Amino acid sequence: MMERPVMEVEVGGVWLSHPVILASGVLNETAASMMRAVEGGAAAVVTKSISLAEREGHPNPTFVELRTGYLNSMGVPNPGIEHYTKEIERFREEMPQVPVILSLYGESVEEFEELGRAARTLPVEAVEVNLSCPNVEEGGIAFGKDPDGVYSAVRAVRRGFPRGVWAKLTAHCPDIVEAAKAAERGGADALVAINTLKGIAIDPYLAMPVLASGTGGYSGEGIKPLALEKVWELASSGEVEAPIVGSGGITTGLDAVEFLMAGAAAVEVGSAVRRRGVGVFSQIREEIEAFLVEEGYGSAGEIVGLALERYPHEEVGE
Ligand SMILES: Cc1cc2nc3c(=O)[nH]c(=O)nc-3n(C[C@H](O)[C@H](O)[C@H](O)COP(=O)(O)O)c2cc1C
Repeated sequence: MMERPVMEVEVGGVWLSHPVILASGVLNETAASMMRAVEGGAAAVVTKSISLAEREGHPNPTFVELRTGYLNSMGVPNPGIEHYTKEIERFREEMPQVPVILSLYGESVEEFEELGRAARTLPVEAVEVNLSCPNVEEGGIAFGKDPDGVYSAVRAVRRGFPRGVWAKLTAHCPDIVEAAKAAERGGADALVAINTLKGIAIDPYLAMPVLASGTGGYSGEGIKPLALEKVWELASSGEVEAPIVGSGGITTGLDAVEFLMAGAAAVEVGSAVRRRGVGVFSQIREEIEAFLVEEGYGSAGEIVGLALERYPHEEVGE
């Protein structure tokens, strides 16, 4: 009988028992919901994006289901870092072996620096700098859309936080490779690509946008090829050294395999929780494992970037 493939991977100083982790904004409002994700098989949890002060978020409706995914305009509702600390500590007490990546949302460089300092004393392995939320005016994409913004936000967090710093990039920027290089200059240990994409749904009978905020962030199956292409762009550039974490529409094990083959070391899963239930993390892990066995690979790490190695770059555009 063939040995089971090695599923363990390392991302920017964080060891994961397998490459499938919970994405920010889904199932992570409380310690209890994050524990459910781990019971459903997540190898690590990224928290909800947390700001210095409490944020109410946007008025409802803030969520709509589409044929190919979802639109949300939550507006980063969260209780603020002081109150959320209790949830992290409770989670850690119950599940000390599971890595926690704290997602940070700031509206200024100073706020990011303060958040980094606050995170230093918390029991988290890494932080994820949210440079990519399309649903807010001040933070999120405002930093992610140009390399200077990316650099200054990541640098500010890095100044205060001595462990892993992951930078969550947006596809809404002129050149994601430039954004990634700026994140690396700022001190990022890993790059996450991508966040939701700005979208809109209109109710034809009301002749009005469905979401109270008008536009929202598009996630789920429909964004997978775009997210995958961004990972591919980063990994094939030859200019980015930090490990990449893929995010966007990953719903099945084969979706995850595509991201690994495009160069991602791990993947974050959000919307698929709604499609397949909270056990989706175990399902995806088992499907990756079954693929590796079927194709004779010995480990998940072995397929990272494989499609890039096989692809004849020199011939592109000739
Ligand atoms: C309801 C909802 C809330 C989200 N909130 C956050 C957030 O607070 N911070 C963040 O970085 N990403 C947030 N995201 C984006 C996800 O983390 C993920 O990057 C994106 O949805 C693409 O992955 P998916 O297709 O697997 O959902 C949110 C997504 C959804 C659907």
